[in-house]
Amino acid sequence: MNIRKEIKEIEKMIIDWRRDFHQFPELSFQEHRTGDVIADELRSMGLEPKVKVGKTGVTADLKFGNGPVIGLRADMDALPIQETSGLPFSSQNDGVMHACGHDGHMAMLLGAAKALTQKDNQYNGTVRFIFQPAEEGEGGARYMIEDGCLEGIDEIYGIHVWNYQPVGEVGVKDGPVLAAADMFDIKIKGIGGHGAAPQGTVDSVVVASYLVQALQTIVSRNTNPLESTVISIGKINGGNNFNIIADEVSLSGTARAYSEENRNLIKTRMEEIIKGVEKTYNANITFDYKDGYPPTINHVGPTQKVLKAAEKVVGDKAGMPYLSMGGEDFAYYLKEKPGCFFFVGSAPNEQELFETPHHCSHFTMDERALLVGPSIYLNLLDNIMGT
Ligand code: NI
Repeated sequence: MNIRKEIKEIEKMIIDWRRDFHQFPELSFQEHRTGDVIADELRSMGLEPKVKVGKTGVTADLKFGNGPVIGLRADMDALPIQETSGLPFSSQNDGVMHACGHDGHMAMLLGAAKALTQKDNQYNGTVRFIFQPAEEGEGGARYMIEDGCLEGIDEIYGIHVWNYQPVGEVGVKDGPVLAAADMFDIKIKGIGGHGAAPQGTVDSVVVASYLVQALQTIVSRNTNPLESTVISIGKINGGNNFNIIADEVSLSGTARAYSEENRNLIKTRMEEIIKGVEKTYNANITFDYKDGYPPTINHVGPTQKVLKAAEKVVGDKAGMPYLSMGGEDFAYYLKEKPGCFFFVGSAPNEQELFETPHHCSHFTMDERALLVGPSIYLNLLDNIMGT
């Protein structure tokens, strides 16, 4: 690997930042200490951070002269998980853990800021460091955008450490890389009665069973098999006793798609199927579909720039990411501005890539990855802003 000299020199600093964030994780929109640490570090580098952007976010501009404005984004929040990793720098906040690697994202971005603020003025352009709260479900990106974090920005980039790829691999791909992650609730109202006398009842358990099966046909029969989609019902509630016909069942689930077209198709077909089932069984069904994050769709130009920058660090190990139907609110930035979201391999065990998945209580990462990300950023900015 070709780690940039400026990054290698501050390796300890980067790792210390990550471990500090790891010890004091904070949930979405509660990243107060995290934001304070980031702002202090940026100030000590001579920058003038804006705080409380998008509630608890921090941004800072480093201006080198006229030229493009490039945004680099790290997310800040942790998850409601009790850490079991056994690491010496484990979470000190009960029930809260950096189990997705956002601690690493912040450390990498601070590392890039440190290296860039020490740089002789050879660039044309401005780098905007964007530390964003609440990626895990609340869509902090939207609040950052509302507060103007994209103003004047020409391109935006973001990194996710990726435990499904070994250190030394970088996942870069144009087009969709993460899915739209929507949620839905379905309430079936039937007519209850004695388990031995179904006549005159509307059995909401039977309706629910039929509906679960029928909804799967959207993925298997309606969407293009070459385009990934998922519908999962994760929760069913209903019924009271073995000999009572249940009058009410509720279902909740998630729908995933890589394009707005498929997202809309799923929504429409769900409505149609639910209406049909309602009629078939004489039930009363309410359907509530909530849009989650949109699909994360990388732009071609910026993706090629990242690929070039990553190849300088990891050679031909820069390429396709391990794709996932997970969601990511970086998607909102990519709807507004050209950019690229890419994946830096961080698996602690190259042989067992699924040993420490994201969002598990024993999540940890190979910290060598933390030098790869900022090295790519420096190469990227050399290409975009270099004179
Ligand atoms: Ni994440």
